[in-house]
Amino acid sequence: MTLVDALSPDRDPDLVARFAPWAGRRLLVFGAGYIGGAVARVARAAGLEVSALTRNPATAGALAAAGVDVVVADLASHDWHARMPRDADFVLNAVSSGGGGVEGYRRSYVEGARSLIAWASTASPPVRAHLIYTSSTSVYAQGGGVRVDETSDAEPVEENGRLILESERVVRGWLGPWTILRLAGIYGPERHLLLDQLRAGATELAGRGEHRLNLVHRDDVIGALVAVWRGRERAAGQVYTLADGCPEAKATVAAWVASRLGREPPGFSAEGAGLRRRQVPDRVIASDRIQRELGWRPRYPSFREGYAALLEA
Ligand SMILES: NC(=O)c1ccc[n+]([C@@H]2O[C@H](COP(=O)([O-])OP(=O)(O)OC[C@H]3O[C@@H](n4cnc5c(N)ncnc54)[C@H](OP(=O)(O)O)[C@@H]3O)[C@@H](O)[C@H]2O)c1
Repeated sequence: MTLVDALSPDRDPDLVARFAPWAGRRLLVFGAGYIGGAVARVARAAGLEVSALTRNPATAGALAAAGVDVVVADLASHDWHARMPRDADFVLNAVSSGGGGVEGYRRSYVEGARSLIAWASTASPPVRAHLIYTSSTSVYAQGGGVRVDETSDAEPVEENGRLILESERVVRGWLGPWTILRLAGIYGPERHLLLDQLRAGATELAGRGEHRLNLVHRDDVIGALVAVWRGRERAAGQVYTLADGCPEAKATVAAWVASRLGREPPGFSAEGAGLRRRQVPDRVIASDRIQRELGWRPRYPSFREGYAALLEA
């Protein structure tokens, strides 16, 4: 069973119903991973014509079985330009680097976005669909417990964040309407590292327990995409930060999950051998604006509802 098979968000009637008003319209998905693959399946289940680009033959097979037209190619190349339909209504760019270090980031995010813009701009007539680009809150360097939203300065200090910000600049060259969503840490079915670690018996986790986790559930990311496309006149040319709005210290989240598993709360080690990645800064990612302007409401307004659903499953 592939990852895409295991997720099956297209069996969720509420998610499918959100796309139903657009049955018969065409959606293009670039980057058919955790979010892109889920959106492709949900939209197809709702009756949209969906085409998806992936480099991965296993993903391609699973999506094709779900009725998605698949193009197997690297977004950064121009190989796919002649193969992707241009008469789209909605376009999603949800690629992530998937490893490969800084060069992987450059290729997937920056060169990928350039290829997308080149494809859309050179079409005759140019592609005018509404593009959503799923960027990241890693474009913000702020820590120290401050509140971060769309009005905060995006001045990344890490190279990865700089490359994502550069890709956003490229995306702003899309000739049709576009919207950028800067996402916090995504979790959901089949993506719950903390739960996996605790289930495996970990008593010490890498990182700083007092740093807040800013999370957003997969299904609420899908809900945000729908909110943008539904409110697309308002959302055109806008950037929105997206998180569940209920950040909690990692130690609080871990203790809550541990108690549900009948375990003691784990300890934390900022120096631990498992700490391969840079510490995520401690801050509060706010999503008031997308709630106010587009009516987005998270189904999982905190980790408690999200993890409770994962534990039940
Ligand atoms: N995961 C998070 O916590 C998080 C946080 C903030 C922002 N985001 C953003 O949210 C979006 C969705 O994230 P996700 O969790 O769904 O990521 P994901 O599961 O890693 O999926 C991204 C997909 O992009 C595809 N891809 C990467 N480079 C490509 C290329 N050059 N050409 C074609 N396909 C390419 C990969 O598929 P193949 O290898 O199969 O082609 C991968 O499956 C991304 O834009 C990410 O930057 C994620």
